[in-house]
Amino acid sequence: MMHASVEAVLNGLNVAVFMVDRDHRILFRNAASGQLFGVGLRGRKLDDFISSKKCLKAVNRVLTGEAEVRVDIKLQLVVPTSFSVTVVRMNPDVPQAEAKAIVSLEDVSHIREAEQMRSDFVANVSHELRSPLTALYGFIETLQGPAKDDANARERFLGLMEAEAQRMARLIDDLLSLSKLQAAERVAPDELVAIGPVLRRVIASLEPITEREKCAVVLELDEALPLVHGDLDELTQVFSNLIENAAKYGRAGTDVTVKAWMDATHLHVCVADQGEGIAPKHITRLTERFYRIDKGRSRSKGGTGLGLAIVKHILMRHRGTLEITSEPGVGSKFCVVLPVAVLENM
Ligand SMILES: Nc1ncnc2c1ncn2[C@@H]1O[C@H](COP(=O)(O)OP(=O)(O)O)[C@@H](O)[C@H]1O
Ligand SMILES: [Mg+2]
Repeated sequence: MMHASVEAVLNGLNVAVFMVDRDHRILFRNAASGQLFGVGLRGRKLDDFISSKKCLKAVNRVLTGEAEVRVDIKLQLVVPTSFSVTVVRMNPDVPQAEAKAIVSLEDVSHIREAEQMRSDFVANVSHELRSPLTALYGFIETLQGPAKDDANARERFLGLMEAEAQRMARLIDDLLSLSKLQAAERVAPDELVAIGPVLRRVIASLEPITEREKCAVVLELDEALPLVHGDLDELTQVFSNLIENAAKYGRAGTDVTVKAWMDATHLHVCVADQGEGIAPKHITRLTERFYRIDKGRSRSKGGTGLGLAIVKHILMRHRGTLEITSEPGVGSKFCVVLPVAVLENM
């Protein structure tokens, strides 16, 4: 009933297309509809496999006179899937008893997910900035009122205010790092970096934190580690974040071990702590922006919740990976794997 070339065109679309009659019976369906809803749909009714009332109502509106109706629906297929549905009248000139409608369903799940992520992110950022700001307002009020003439209180409150202002500054720095990284994601870094000196410098610069957390950092470097193609500042940021986390979330009085070695093609750098470990359900989510296992603990240690998200983005640019393993009660291990630079004429 349909011209072969028209059918071929419809089968080439990755949008599910149905032609239905007044009873919602399927007269034609394209290939994409079979992939989404299963084969053997011809002759059946739309209502048999599309449970959305909103969608079926839209079809009825078109079959009873409207030219075109668009609705957004969600269907429980193998996973919940969002569709943008367009229903148009196929043959506006024939009597209504013979009306037919074209129903097309476009999978827009990825767009909806991106929209959701964006709005969650904005909500998170606002919340994270709002809380130090609220604290600052509180201290200002106290200093203007009850603690006006109390020199000791003034000293203490100013210290607390400085800490809150620093927290806001750290958050803004991390947000800027993230947005810069996202912009440069597809550009491979082009410096040659020796990892050994980077690790030594990072460990030295973290001394105030490791001392505060009462942990010692042990560095075990294989001899003759090769160079990697990388960005010195970004790789510094990666290891700084990982070693700082190990110191903060490890157990006081225990060692953090940093090991670097080489296999045939890759450089491995593992940061291991002896903390309480991480449950498997958290491990896959740790690199999400603002994901923290214990918010209070992260805050009290000065965390922004963005460290591992930054690490992930830097490693993506470096064609590297982060592997997290953990044994509850024993400790966690964060391993960075980087491709080594292949140097010509050497
Ligand atoms: N070595 C570790 N041991 C246990 N938990 C960790 C470790 N490193 C990171 N985490 C968890 O991952 C979360 C996210 O880390 P990160 O992105 O660096 O944020 P932050 O350190 O600012 O909280 C931390 O809040 C913590 O819950
Ligand atoms: Mg961190």
